[in-house]
Amino acid sequence: MFAFSSYAVILLSLSRLGLCSSNSPKRAPENWGESPSDSRCSGLLPLMQALQQNVFNEKCGSMVHKALRATFHDSIAYSQSQSTGAADGSLFAFSEVELTYRANGGLREYVATMKPYAEHYGISSGDLLYFAAAVGLTNCVGGPRLDVFIGRPAAVGPSPDGMIPGPTQSVDAILARMADAGFSASELVALMASHSVAASDNIDPTIPETPIDSTPGCFDSQFYIETSLKGTTFPGTGNNAERGEVESPSKRQIRMKSDFELARDPRTSCQWQSYATDHSRMQADFKMAMTKLMTLGQNMGDLINCSDVIPQPESLKSTMKPHFSADHSIDDVDQSCPNSPFPDLPSESKDDIPGKQDGGSDDRQNW
Ligand code: HEM
Ligand SMILES: *[C@@H]1O[C@H](CO)[C@@H](O)[C@H](O)[C@H]1NC(C)=O
Repeated sequence: MFAFSSYAVILLSLSRLGLCSSNSPKRAPENWGESPSDSRCSGLLPLMQALQQNVFNEKCGSMVHKALRATFHDSIAYSQSQSTGAADGSLFAFSEVELTYRANGGLREYVATMKPYAEHYGISSGDLLYFAAAVGLTNCVGGPRLDVFIGRPAAVGPSPDGMIPGPTQSVDAILARMADAGFSASELVALMASHSVAASDNIDPTIPETPIDSTPGCFDSQFYIETSLKGTTFPGTGNNAERGEVESPSKRQIRMKSDFELARDPRTSCQWQSYATDHSRMQADFKMAMTKLMTLGQNMGDLINCSDVIPQPESLKSTMKPHFSADHSIDDVDQSCPNSPFPDLPSESKDDIPGKQDGGSDDRQNW
């Protein structure tokens, strides 16, 4: 009986491999960028093609997730109080130092894959790091078209350790660090949309590539919905509190303490809840906060705006509505915003679930 039911679960997971899994869809080559209006941006087109073919495999998979995570980890050492850090590509240029920082666990392979592209295509590590994230995000259905700026000078040194917020930190500590980098609580809530296209290798190392929401291949609002559900279970061993794990609503996803608390804190919960049913505002707010993140510590007047190189990502399908999973309903929500009730969303039917499982990555890492 038990053997039969786990077999049934495996079959169900396979049938769910669809639009929002990390492995699909493939984008057609003719969707690649148009010729830029500023000729100084045209060198980005062959680089975009190379990254799509050799690194991202035209998918919203693990390498795209890491490219996006790298933007945060490279830039957020920027500090108004300590005059450190910048969106400068020091994570690539001084990787032998920064990859020893605990917060950068899991980025080694991505950094090693990417570093050679800077020299090969004659751009700075910083320009490469942020351009790659914007290119990668175009593979994520529902993603924003991030603005891209080129002309960051070479990084002059590694970022100091201890600047990147961690999943065990309190909301107080996270908001204070973000404020020191120039971000409001509202901008942080918007930036967290990145965890809509995310998995974890290190929170429970026994289950690498466990998604953070049910749709890691789509930039949708399920992250904000699912972090609002009561925690009931652990997808793996469950004894990873020191790595920031808390109970998740499903065996198929992992939850970190910081996301759990940001969904519930009175300073962040109402905006968090509002994104559940407002994908276009979630997308626009994320894009605006990302422009700031991706240029921290840079002089905008010295940068060239190459945004028109980035193609428009595919939109969410009309069938991909905000929802609870089949085994959840509004009764499972931790109501956290004091001003308004959490929206009562449909629970998906067991038959028409688009890809929910990150089946692991088959991104190509060869040159
Ligand atoms: C309070 C702030 C944040 C905390 C505490 C945090 C923490 C984490 C943790 C612990 C992971 C899992 C890493 C692993 O186990 O492999 C993760 C993954 C990720 N984070 Fe964040 N994060 C924060 C903000 C951000 C921001 C602002 C971005 C981007 C703009 C970002 C992008 C990502 C992405 C895309 C992943 C998935 C990486 C992958 O799938 O390999 N995070 N984050
Ligand atoms: C950069 O260009 C895009 C359009 O290509 C535009 O929407 C955006 O406002 C520009 N950003 C700046 C800071 O000029």
